[in-house]
Amino acid sequence: MTLVFAAGRYRLSLPESPDHWELYHRIRRDVLLEAQKYAVELRDELAPGHHPRLLWLDEHPIGSIRVDVLAPGRAALRLVAIHSEWQRKGHGSALLSLAEQLARDLGCHETVVYATPEAARFYSKASYAEEDWDDTYVSGIVQMVKRLG
Ligand SMILES: CC(C)(COP(=O)(O)OP(=O)(O)OC[C@H]1O[C@@H](n2cnc3c(N)ncnc32)[C@H](O)[C@@H]1OP(=O)(O)O)[C@@H](O)C(=O)NCCC(=O)NCCS
Repeated sequence: MTLVFAAGRYRLSLPESPDHWELYHRIRRDVLLEAQKYAVELRDELAPGHHPRLLWLDEHPIGSIRVDVLAPGRAALRLVAIHSEWQRKGHGSALLSLAEQLARDLGCHETVVYATPEAARFYSKASYAEEDWDDTYVSGIVQMVKRLG
């Protein structure tokens, strides 16, 4: 069931303290490994162009994402994760909206994802279309693109 939460209750923040980095890594590890999607360890969290973020709902850390600027105008949304207890309540949509706003603020006009087949419907509901944006073929991954308005 998708519930409606006031947009002002969400905050996308850079993990800065050791505790917040631990939360960020734990959400990614628990959600993505639990879902047995893929190995999680992307490195260089703070390499140039990489923007790791924790999603907060009021005081609850409920999700994580990394926005990587790949080329002028294009950002990839990586390791999109909502903690399992908080899934299917509309928080993933909020996370995408905030990450897309961050991408706009970074000067990007499109966002791209590597989606698992299970998650492709989630992205298509958020106006992502299946489109190859990367020459690298990865079996079982759907490449998707959204032009930001
Ligand atoms: C995928 C994920 C980020 C979605 O977040 P969420 O909070 O559960 O999604 P929402 O509640 O905001 O859903 C938004 C819409 O997408 C749909 N949706 C969400 N997950 C879906 C799924 N796995 N399959 C089909 N539809 C899905 C919802 O039904 C909802 O549709 P509606 O607006 O018509 O009601 C979250 O479920 C998750 O972290 N999953 C495990 C990790 C993962 O798969 N990450 C993506 C890797 S590419």
